[in-house]
Amino acid sequence: MNRPLMEGTPLNVPAQVRHVRLIEWVAQMAALTQARDVYWCDGSTAEYDRLCAQLVAGGTFRKLNEALRPNSYLACSSPSDVARVEDRTFICSATKEDAGPTNNWMAPAEMRALLQTGEQALFKGCMRGRTMYVVPFSMGPLGSPIAHIGVELSDSPYVAVNMKIMTRMGAKVLDLLGIDGHFVPCVHTVGAPLAPGQKDVAWPCNDTKYIVHYPETQEIWSYGSGYGGNALLGKKCFALRIASTMGKEQGWLAEHMLVLGVTSPEGKKHHVAAAFPSACGKTNFAMLIPPAGMAGWKVTTIGDDIAWIKPQADGRLHAINPEAGYFGVAPGTNEHTNFNCMQSLKRDVIFTNVALTDDGDVWWEGMTDEPPAHLIDWQGKDWTPALAKEAAAAGKPRPAAHPNSRFTVAATNNPALDSEWDNPKGVPIDAFIFGGRRSTTVPLVTEARDWVEGVYMAATMGSETTAAAGGAQGVVRRDPFAMLPFIGYNMSDYFQHWLDLGAKLQAGGAELPRIYCVNWFRKGDDGKFVWPGYGENMRVLQWMIERIEGRAQGQEHAFGVTPRFGDLNWKGLDFTQAAYRQVTDTTTAQWRTELGLHSALFEQLAHHLPREMTAVKAALERRLAA
Ligand code: GTP
Ligand code: SPV
Ligand code: MN
Repeated sequence: MNRPLMEGTPLNVPAQVRHVRLIEWVAQMAALTQARDVYWCDGSTAEYDRLCAQLVAGGTFRKLNEALRPNSYLACSSPSDVARVEDRTFICSATKEDAGPTNNWMAPAEMRALLQTGEQALFKGCMRGRTMYVVPFSMGPLGSPIAHIGVELSDSPYVAVNMKIMTRMGAKVLDLLGIDGHFVPCVHTVGAPLAPGQKDVAWPCNDTKYIVHYPETQEIWSYGSGYGGNALLGKKCFALRIASTMGKEQGWLAEHMLVLGVTSPEGKKHHVAAAFPSACGKTNFAMLIPPAGMAGWKVTTIGDDIAWIKPQADGRLHAINPEAGYFGVAPGTNEHTNFNCMQSLKRDVIFTNVALTDDGDVWWEGMTDEPPAHLIDWQGKDWTPALAKEAAAAGKPRPAAHPNSRFTVAATNNPALDSEWDNPKGVPIDAFIFGGRRSTTVPLVTEARDWVEGVYMAATMGSETTAAAGGAQGVVRRDPFAMLPFIGYNMSDYFQHWLDLGAKLQAGGAELPRIYCVNWFRKGDDGKFVWPGYGENMRVLQWMIERIEGRAQGQEHAFGVTPRFGDLNWKGLDFTQAAYRQVTDTTTAQWRTELGLHSALFEQLAHHLPREMTAVKAALERRLAA
């Protein structure tokens, strides 16, 4: 197979690989994309170092100061390629109903014509002049019954090195695939072919972008972007959009959730999975350090972004983190807000779109109280605090780091990594938390009275939009289960799937995880967050754990159960009762407006909307009127 295919691309298949379907697919894709050659990633450190050196030579990477930030790099993207592109993301299921009203849809045949088969098909010749990297990866511990394998073909070496950190990647996965193992095929191109002799740019990409999923055939095709979830196809495309459709068929859950272990001073350990929308605090919560005054409590990280959750023989839901690294938001991260994260970032990191300091290190907004006197910003321009002030005053803020700038780092760099994080069996889940970014209306914490009410809370969750997605920021939109951009099928069917799974577990005699709704983001009249958040969120977590253990009290109200001031542990924190009222009060007028927004969501989702959802809403309305 190592001979060039006619006059085509040399495939360079390693002797180890005897998976005929894989080799044939690589050959087909090489022919379609007309890649210059093919390179099969083995996932070794030597390979990582070599590709990073190549990215430095090509101008994509800058090597950071080895003394200050060992083994680390900075990449700055094109200003047109800085976040996920939700409006360019498609679920191409056989019917539009199966994609549902919240997803962009196109008929599979029409999309295939556009991407693969039409005369002007975008993937035809899209890798000309570039190497096609074959990136075999496992989402989840190798060989775990909860794990699944994918192979990404990409013309971006930036993707290859990020995948090495974010997934279990390389030769071991090819071994596991054997001669006929199942894998999800993922094709990615930056959409920037090179003519003979044409010089490459530091961040190739294309203004035309398509992030495409075919759920029935489990394929992913991504065109035009090199950034984050658009390009690292194991993450949102596979582990959420495709996996959620697998989960619906097979009876499990793929969720936009962190997973943490929390150990009480008495040494009892619980596991919690929490869904917050993009850039709303998952990484922070997953690495939480309890504040002074809460000595003895300990939080350990299993995952920070995605959870695969499957019912096991013990009748309980067990979760794994399908990823092996963190692709986290940089701005706002510092030694006070997330000490463990800062420790994780001391070495072996790929930074994307943060600012460069004069001594060859990195900086982002919020890293230090005082910004450095001079920086090179994420767009390669000189930056000073004075220039930034000027720009802000003119109404054109010029942050040194892009608001969606990110770090890529291995989970094993995290000092708070849970000892079970790599356990193929996963960890049993005791509670689910759902939380959005809401400056008003939604209280600090509410416990659902039962599973169905919890599903309603998750389904109707709203959140103010962030820089993690392209488009307007700070607008409240409904983001059911924090899955709006990530569900691979009809949203209402997804609600039904949650209800069915709960009913099934309950019928089997299992105690279901409790469900909570949180909001760290209520603001005062001064526009500032009232709740101190970060480590102080441990107080809310303690209350949840003690509720589960039957030890904590709360007050029942129209929407569920919320702790009274005296029900929380305030040791070591000076938080007034008046401030507590500000983060927990629920005014009838605000909730009438809120329920109006739930109605609008349910109208949009009317097709297949579970009857339970309208029933819970009617009960809420009755209680609110009483
Ligand atoms: P994705 O990786 O995009 O899915 O997001 P994430 O949910 O992991 O986001 P992350 O934890 O990185 O959150 C980033 C933003 O949330 C930063 O601006 C943080 O400062 C802010 N944040 C996190 N936790 C808190 C909190 O408890 N209170 C407040 N006010 N802000 C928080
Ligand atoms: C998110 O946007 O929720 C992320 C970052 O976790 S990305 O992988 O780019 O989607
Ligand atoms: Mn995410």
